Amino acid sequence: MSVDEQQRGFGTRAIKAATRTPKVEQHPAAVPIYQSATFHAEDVDDYAELVGFERPGYTYARLQNPTADAMADAFAELHGAEAGFAFGSGMGAIHATLLALVRAGDRIVSTRAVYGSTRALMERVLRTLGVEVVFVDPVDLAAVERELAAAPTAVLYAETISNPTIVVADLARLAELAHAHGASLVVDNTFASPYICQPLDVGADVVVESATKWISGHSDVVAGAVAGRGEFIERVRDVAIDTGGIVSPFAAFLVLRGLQTLHVRMDRHSASALALARQLERAPGVVSVAYPGLPGHPQAEIAQRELRRGGGMLAMELSSRAAAAAFIDNLRIPPVTATLGSVVTYAVHPPSATHRQLSDEQLAEAGIPQGLVRISVGLEDVDDLLADMAGALMAAMEAGLSA
Ligand SMILES: Cc1ncc(COP(=O)(O)O)c(C=O)c1O
Repeated sequence: MSVDEQQRGFGTRAIKAATRTPKVEQHPAAVPIYQSATFHAEDVDDYAELVGFERPGYTYARLQNPTADAMADAFAELHGAEAGFAFGSGMGAIHATLLALVRAGDRIVSTRAVYGSTRALMERVLRTLGVEVVFVDPVDLAAVERELAAAPTAVLYAETISNPTIVVADLARLAELAHAHGASLVVDNTFASPYICQPLDVGADVVVESATKWISGHSDVVAGAVAGRGEFIERVRDVAIDTGGIVSPFAAFLVLRGLQTLHVRMDRHSASALALARQLERAPGVVSVAYPGLPGHPQAEIAQRELRRGGGMLAMELSSRAAAAAFIDNLRIPPVTATLGSVVTYAVHPPSATHRQLSDEQLAEAGIPQGLVRISVGLEDVDDLLADMAGALMAAMEAGLSA
């Protein structure tokens, strides 16, 4: 410290002393949480170059920050993409992706059973801004093609495994159809995760995910990511800058920690989900069970070629809304809440929780029955889960509520 500096007031010295960042030559084992809102440049010209992305570096943490970059790069690498961008939520990622692809007068063809907020984003936000949105059944490829041919379409939107109906989309065919009609295929891979499915490998243009779910895996962070071609991700980044969607450094840190054990967790989630699906499909009072790993799943052949494992999500139809509620209320292990993709098992009634934005007609049109229960299988001991689900089904039956 120079003599001049020593003579400054306490406040000035305290601020200088407490913001002197250590220079670290060695690589830390974990990506550090760069909890800083700004980064300093050498001079005005240097700042202008950095903030204009003329050379790599950091300026203001809403534009880019190193922990967010590490998360985005990891997500892109695991999806085999040129580039990625990390967001403060899955919806932030989907919002910025769609805003980078459509403008007033453009058209989106979306598969019909998508996450409730995604549907609300398309219907409440994008339609109001002049974007046309139509919904189709992803299983009916002829209907998808008819819609794509009906008018110029910018985006075909699909979920790898649909929320909440567990329909497995034929991404390779959807990509062919989209490209034949000049549209980009955007895939929400949240229910699968990068370990279970790689949508870009089979022709999708963009992959989005809620990292709140399987990737982070512990219900302790909300985050999202998008990956695709470099030039497209620059457009997404520009939307993110102007709308303020970037992930926080701490959230990115948690996502990076989760990502390191994703493969181990997904193998166990998949094994437990298969055991539960097998038990539930034979249980009295159950109308049907949808799980991609069951040979009887309507898209079993697509799941076989597209998914590494069945994943942790299954859906079970009971006879009515009351039966679904009684089943969930009688479970002892899963808490009553609405999320998925965690070490904790969750059972959700989509019509009253995740898809509450849809009217009864829209639920029917999206193929979501009133008695549906969506189960995200956690890492608890599977025998405990099997017993808990059997007991809850029995209690729902005794209440006279099952088929
Ligand atoms: C399939 C799917 N996509 C996107 C989202 C949105 O993710 P987030 O809650 O991180 O915004 C969800 C949330 O449940 C989801 O299920």
